[in-house]
Amino acid sequence: MTDADLVAHAKSARKKAYAPYSNYYVGCALIGKDGALITGCNVENIVFPETICAEKVALLKAVSDGHTEIELAAVVTDSEPPATPCGSCRQMLHSWGVKRVIVANLDGAMTSYDMSELLPHAFRLTELPRGR
Ligand code: THU
Repeated sequence: MTDADLVAHAKSARKKAYAPYSNYYVGCALIGKDGALITGCNVENIVFPETICAEKVALLKAVSDGHTEIELAAVVTDSEPPATPCGSCRQMLHSWGVKRVIVANLDGAMTSYDMSELLPHAFRLTELPRGR
C-alpha cells in the first residue's frame, strides 16, 4: 500500500469522528507488520477528559484484534500544516512499534516523520525498574 492509499483510509476514518465539543475531526490508519489495516477516529465524551484520540482508538482496535506489532501510521486532520500526534499518542504509537508517521490534511498536504524524530528518547520497556 502506498502512503497516499493509507492516507485515504485515514481520511475515510475521519468521517466517523465523534467530535461535537471541539469540532476537530481526526482519522488514523495503521498498517500492522502482518499487513493488517486498522483505522480509528477521535471519540469525544460529554465528560471531556474521557475523550480518546484517533491514534489511540486505532491502536486499541489493532491490539484487541491481535495485531500487536504496527509498522506505519497515517493521521488526517483539517489543519494547515497537517497536525502531528499529541505527545501521549506519540508514546503509545512508539510502544507498539510504529516506525514512521504520515500526517496529511484535506487539501492534500502530506509529510512523513520518522518516529525517532517525533519522539526522541521515548520511554522503553527496558527502562522499567527490575525489582526493589
Ligand atoms: N486529537 C486526536 O484525535 N489526536 C491527537 O493526536 C490530538 C488530538 C483529538 C482529541 C479531541 O477530540 C480533538 O482532537 C481536539 O483535541
